[in-house]
Amino acid sequence: MLSQDMLQSLYERIKASRGKLLNSEVKQLCKSLGMDVEALMLALLPVAAKFAKPPISNFYVGAIALDRNLEEFGDLYFGANLEFAHEALSLVVHAEQSAINNAWSNGAAKVDLIAITDAPCGYCRQFMNELHNADELNVTLPHKKTTLRHLLPEDFGPNDLGNSQSVFNSEPVRLQAIEHVSDSLLKAASRSYAPYSGNYSAVEIETEHGNFVGSYIENAAYSPSLSPLQSALSQMELAGLSIDECRIHKITLLEIEGKENQLDVAKAVLNSLLYEVELNHVKVRLV
Ligand code: THU
Ligand code: ZN
Repeated sequence: MLSQDMLQSLYERIKASRGKLLNSEVKQLCKSLGMDVEALMLALLPVAAKFAKPPISNFYVGAIALDRNLEEFGDLYFGANLEFAHEALSLVVHAEQSAINNAWSNGAAKVDLIAITDAPCGYCRQFMNELHNADELNVTLPHKKTTLRHLLPEDFGPNDLGNSQSVFNSEPVRLQAIEHVSDSLLKAASRSYAPYSGNYSAVEIETEHGNFVGSYIENAAYSPSLSPLQSALSQMELAGLSIDECRIHKITLLEIEGKENQLDVAKAVLNSLLYEVELNHVKVRLV
């Protein structure tokens, strides 16, 4: 158990690095606390849960994804649940989605292990089943070590739809912007995972405290997909920022021309959070 002071200072440090702890810091923490990385992840779960924003349930969920990345310790990506008070409950971002999306957005190679404050719901088990190494994914809960395969036997996944790609094993697509957009937004869209709808898309939120991008992550069962706006909002929360609490300069949604499917839901979510919002909608083509 880490002291409250220690948890608070780690929270500040992780917030400043936008929700991650890279290998060198993980190594130093493991050494100074005499823990292996899995024990460190369990000890840090209360820090992950501090990033949660659950105005409806008041139920704080934290998750931490580990990419061992051929290192002795590995990189840690934090995640937490995010609820929208005046929108359909189904728009919530689950902590597991948030952590995996954080790893994906930061260019992690894979997720080997995910630690979660509570057992993952069926929807998250399905979301995690889209990962490249779903058959080897380890899940650590406060009182139990298990695997995704144990939690989700007889699964339905990308292969059932004839899709040989998966999250962390998909080729980036080449996109041609019709209007000017930032490199980071174009890159996020080209790395998005949209094998089912073909709408390779991303959102960029430009704020007084910096810019946040999120890419679309689809799922074979469709419903557990993470929209590009949910992804960008979740990334903001991991920096301790909420869209309705800071000055927003611009919000851009980039979608594939002819495949657009995000505009209506993005507008609805933004309208429920912001008094006045202009959503810049940009279309791109596949090349
Ligand atoms: N929640 C998660 O974040 N992960 C799970 O797998 C279980 C449920 C969140 C969603 C919602 O914000 C709250 O917990 C109540 O369901
Ligand atoms: Zn869940």
